[in-house]
Amino acid sequence: MEGGKRIKFSFEEPVGQKYLFDREAELDALGKCESCFLTGPLGAGKTSLVKSYIERTGCSAVWIRGEKIAGSRSLVNTVIREVLKAKERSESKDDYKAAEIEIENYRDGKIDVYTFITRLFESIEHKEVCFILDEYSALRRIGPLFNHLNRVIFAFTKKRSLRIILTSSELGYTKLLLERKDLPLGLYVKEVKVMPFKEEKSVEFIALGMEKYGHECPKKSYSRVYPVTEGFPLWLSLVGLRMLEGKCNVDGIYDDERAQAFWIKRLMSLSEKERMMLRYIAQGRKFTEIGPHSRRVLASLYMKGFVASMKEIKIVDPVLNVLLQLGKI
Ligand SMILES: Nc1ncnc2c1ncn2[C@@H]1O[C@H](COP(=O)(O)OP(=O)(O)O)[C@@H](O)[C@H]1O
Ligand SMILES: [Mg+2]
Repeated sequence: MEGGKRIKFSFEEPVGQKYLFDREAELDALGKCESCFLTGPLGAGKTSLVKSYIERTGCSAVWIRGEKIAGSRSLVNTVIREVLKAKERSESKDDYKAAEIEIENYRDGKIDVYTFITRLFESIEHKEVCFILDEYSALRRIGPLFNHLNRVIFAFTKKRSLRIILTSSELGYTKLLLERKDLPLGLYVKEVKVMPFKEEKSVEFIALGMEKYGHECPKKSYSRVYPVTEGFPLWLSLVGLRMLEGKCNVDGIYDDERAQAFWIKRLMSLSEKERMMLRYIAQGRKFTEIGPHSRRVLASLYMKGFVASMKEIKIVDPVLNVLLQLGKI
């Protein structure tokens, strides 16, 4: 079995090193860069890679989940909690003295949030910490503090004094962050692309898992694995789970509540027009049909990673595309 690795079909729950399938090259790339930006569509396996990287290196993770952060207060509280957790785990607790002082200063109202963020980064540089900003671009919701965070991250990746790992599924926003003129993160942060598996690997993943759990599906069902999932680990995992439940019909995924709920939840964060445009694109209609501002709506879908580019107008996620086409969601 693949590098002695085990298979786990885990839907919506990132896997760690033990179950990470076929990502040696990406793990090596992560190991080589000082600070990295993992990019790739939702469900490609970015969070799983970060989790495996942390397990492999043993760095103490201060982990921020962009999609869970509602505002600047929630960001600050999460950062504080994570740094204190890192201290608890650490054998050299003195390393966190400076951080604790800054946390106290901030809580006592002696320093503002901007100063606090800068000083907190300073207080943990050169330490065992790795700073994880998972779904980083989602943090733009927090407003001006996001700009400040960008400046701080730029400065620290330039100094190379702190390991920072960013991830994002929002392809357009990621490009913007890496290439923007005033703070081109890409200068000091290496982009590591996380792409879906190739066809052969996709089928191998499912076949090995089935073998391991002692289940079987007719050979012909395997021929639908790649066309349906396009190698997205997220969908491969759901196909695998379904097969273990005795559901060998791969196309049945479109009627699976888990697949539908996954996208219904995420579509709720879009505007009415954005949702309508996605539907039009899935149905092969012209995006301009939604009326005024259609370019702007398309640009927004591109920024958020729903469509691959402004030229090749295609929905990135293969399952979302069919769910919309069939009117299942
Ligand atoms: N290399 C992998 N091997 C096995 N399962 C994976 C792998 N990458 C991702 N998965 C599975 O696919 C799903 C999506 O992965 P995740 O890491 O959350 O993707 P992303 O962060 O890019 O959205 C998870 O349920 C995870 O268990
Ligand atoms: Mg993720």
